[in-house]
Amino acid sequence: MNSTPAGRPLETSGPAARSTPGADHGTAAVPPVLQAEGLVKRYGAVTAIAEGDLELYPGEILAVIGDNGAGKTSLIKALCGALVPDAGRILLDGRPVTFRTPMDARRAGIETVYQSLAVAPGLDIAENLFLGREQRRPGFLGSVLRLLDKQDMRTVARRQMRELGIATLQDIGQAVESLSGGQRQAVAVARASAFGSKVVILDEPTAALGVKESDRVLQMIRDVRDWGLPVILISHNMPHVFDIADRIHIHRLGRRATVITPESHSMAEAVAIMTGAMPPPEPVSRVR
Ligand SMILES: Nc1ncnc2c1ncn2[C@@H]1O[C@H](COP(=O)(O)OP(=O)(O)O)[C@@H](O)[C@H]1O
Ligand SMILES: [Mg+2]
Repeated sequence: MNSTPAGRPLETSGPAARSTPGADHGTAAVPPVLQAEGLVKRYGAVTAIAEGDLELYPGEILAVIGDNGAGKTSLIKALCGALVPDAGRILLDGRPVTFRTPMDARRAGIETVYQSLAVAPGLDIAENLFLGREQRRPGFLGSVLRLLDKQDMRTVARRQMRELGIATLQDIGQAVESLSGGQRQAVAVARASAFGSKVVILDEPTAALGVKESDRVLQMIRDVRDWGLPVILISHNMPHVFDIADRIHIHRLGRRATVITPESHSMAEAVAIMTGAMPPPEPVSRVR
């Protein structure tokens, strides 16, 4: 078993060397889990990432906000291997990494939930949780006949969903297309948190959800953080951002303008910094 003292449910995921939230509070120099330094990405005459810098610290929810076209998606794509930057570097646990494909980033422990395509509607919950990572039956059946171990996948899926408080999902074999938007998003977040061993990145996870569903997904994101997985949350929803973020990275014109916290600034001030109406304050480096 690889689970942390905080009780992370899945032992099939990556390395045991994970930070325990709260363990490092107050100490001087805790390195970021994930760091981007001077990333650049140009599309012809358009500069999508002018100076991509970002730091994600252990145990935190880092929100990334910015106007349309500010370059948030491009920056996140570089971090999850969906885009190869022209310059700059990415460090994971202090070590430089190169991601050429999203699979490279996933293998390194970075799981991303994209706004679209979060789940495969025709598959059931267990199959969605293991999509692309299906567990084979042990021995000959699995290695030669490549039979999937459905029983085991369902057991793990049921446990995972229970740990995340998705108590309403009675049947783990239920097709995802029969679930509500919030439940689908919950499956996607469960999947990412089950397999991400270092970082979970969520792109607008509540964009299509109602109030109650959003609340549930926001609570799941807090749970993921409290298990010890730091989260990057891209969102346009200021109340959600101010509700759950530990720090708020404000992106503007392809670069980080600053980093604030829900305590240091109001939503109106955050928007003013985003649009350039207010000069950016000194960035807040670490709060948790
Ligand atoms: N594949 C692409 N080809 C050309 N231009 C792109 C591409 N992706 C992004 N851009 C441009 O890069 C800039 C930043 O885009 P994006 O990262 O999507 O910003 P945001 O997510 O903050 O809205 C925009 O001007 C956008 O038009
Ligand atoms: Mg975008």
